[in-house]
Amino acid sequence: MSTITWRDTYSVGIQKIDDQHKELISIINEIYDAHHQGTSQTVIIDTLEKLVDYTIYHFSMEEDLFVQCNYPKKDDHMSEHKEFVGKIADLKQEGRKGNLLLSLKTIDFLKDWTINHILGTDMEFGAFLKEKEIG
Ligand SMILES: [Fe+2]
Repeated sequence: MSTITWRDTYSVGIQKIDDQHKELISIINEIYDAHHQGTSQTVIIDTLEKLVDYTIYHFSMEEDLFVQCNYPKKDDHMSEHKEFVGKIADLKQEGRKGNLLLSLKTIDFLKDWTINHILGTDMEFGAFLKEKEIG
């Protein structure tokens, strides 16, 4: 288990997207830290809620861009977003009901999904924007 350190290789080449990715990473790191420090589940779930809200905000910014520039892979990209939001919203829900102790494995899942999504799907979108000279 470890927190995430931003690397230049995570950059998709579009400032606005990179800045929001940095914020997502910082919220995931906050969840790690809270878990590591043995913070109460309530605080951890509050931070998870912050992640859900910011993720929704960030994905909708990306999705607006898909529409604006007629991105051919928008449907596949959006379904990845939808699946992830569904998962983290469920985790939050379970946490609020007190049915969930957020495990390290779950936090690792948040981290792995986010980094893999940035390095794969978002990178491809960044390349498309650069090719079209948008952004
Ligand atoms: Fe994305």
